[in-house]
Amino acid sequence: MGLFDAELINKYNCSGPRYTSYPTANNFSIFSLKDYQQQSALSKRRKTSISLYCHIPFCDTVCYYCGCNKVVTKDKTKAEPYLDALYKEIDMQSLLFGKEQVVKQMHFGGGTPTFLSGEQIIQLSNKLQQAFNFDLDGEYSIEIDPRGIDKNLIESLAMARFNRISIGVQDFDLEVQKAVNRVQSFKQTKAVIDISRKNGFDSISIDLIYGLPRQSKDTFIKTLEKVNELRPERISLFNYAHLPVLFKPQRRIVLEELPSPAEKLKIFQYSLEYLIDQGYIYIGMDHFALPNDPLAIAQSEGNLYRNFQGYSTHSECDIVGLGVSSIGQVADSFSQNEKSLERYYQALKSGQLPISKGLIVNKDDKIRRALIMEMICHFEVNILKLEERFCIKFTNYFAENIEKLQQMQNDGLIEFNSHSIIVMERGKLLVRNICMIFDSYLESTEASFSKTI
Ligand SMILES: C[S@@+](CC[C@H](N)C(=O)[O-])C[C@H]1O[C@@H](n2cnc3c(N)ncnc32)[C@H](O)[C@@H]1O
Ligand code: SF4
Repeated sequence: MGLFDAELINKYNCSGPRYTSYPTANNFSIFSLKDYQQQSALSKRRKTSISLYCHIPFCDTVCYYCGCNKVVTKDKTKAEPYLDALYKEIDMQSLLFGKEQVVKQMHFGGGTPTFLSGEQIIQLSNKLQQAFNFDLDGEYSIEIDPRGIDKNLIESLAMARFNRISIGVQDFDLEVQKAVNRVQSFKQTKAVIDISRKNGFDSISIDLIYGLPRQSKDTFIKTLEKVNELRPERISLFNYAHLPVLFKPQRRIVLEELPSPAEKLKIFQYSLEYLIDQGYIYIGMDHFALPNDPLAIAQSEGNLYRNFQGYSTHSECDIVGLGVSSIGQVADSFSQNEKSLERYYQALKSGQLPISKGLIVNKDDKIRRALIMEMICHFEVNILKLEERFCIKFTNYFAENIEKLQQMQNDGLIEFNSHSIIVMERGKLLVRNICMIFDSYLESTEASFSKTI
């Protein structure tokens, strides 16, 4: 069956983080508004560029697999009080940052940002542009659900200054779609992409998930062929994270219909080979891009970075998180907004930023973060550079991890010597497991993570 045998699958199929940050969000704890003010003052002094993340939590139907922070409702009037609160938050946040801090990137995520009307999206975008100092050539992206989108809405997105669109697909197989309560035809998806391209969106990204019920390698091949026909600039191929304790709708997924870990590996392995064969570059973990896409260029130049939205080209930016549950990364801190709408509204009503928890990174976090980011973005860690940058001796600093690294070397996942750690082909599929060796928080947390395979 290729790169893995059953023994190796059993050995490495444990639960683990997806490392969109290090330390991961489950380690955030008490973090005061004063902490945030100090960190934003530091960001202002450093004149760090900004990446804005704006969370719109509403969806009008629920997809059973969904692990996002969302509120399912058909009532469109729910958007109004939310936008009022968001505007207050934008006003408060913008006062903390300097006008010389340029916004180079903006992302609307969800939930489903296109739950909002075109007019609401334009107003929100205008509000942000008045509050912050935008770069004319920035990357402005929005997640859209093609079900129920029309030409007018896409035109509004262009007017709101977006230049990138990310489209949820997951799988084109009707049986899979029925099993997850998300029926979405190829025709509908293609129509939205065609209109988007006509409106000047030259970067389209498609989200897929492997590991969904009723999926097999044979069914997924057909989905991939259809996706390739659409030729998006980027493809995200997420490993289905099944955590029914945290995400109630996932309890409606029939466990017997889920593909086995071995089948999931086959799907991923085939997808990897197919997409590379079709001219896509494997960026890492769950992302693919066409060779002229900025992600592929950043990877080849060693400037790739990973954050809460996946891979990014803007490692120099601080992230200002806006909206319920959103996560920010400002100066030396991470912080997260209230996850419940009620508490989010309450905080803003009483004139306070809705930050609920966070973390200030220490030197050890920075060393491990640099290593984990290198590994996950470039499949290679330059030990000599790391030693020089942080004034450490790798074999001393990570003495207790050497045995595990050697085991992974014996299993053919990595090549490791005093100069570098290089991730091998079979190790690329298990890069989360390799990063976990260096995660000093794992043993002390009881968080539930999804399976790595
Ligand atoms: C906020 S949604 C995208 C926008 C829009 N709501 C939609 O579904 O079209 C973000 C993406 O997260 C991914 N996702 C959601 N739940 C997941 C899970 N449990 N495991 C892996 N990926 C998941 C899906 O690929 C989804 O498209
Ligand atoms: S996948 Fe998208 S549309 Fe479906 S429930 Fe999650 S956020 Fe909403």
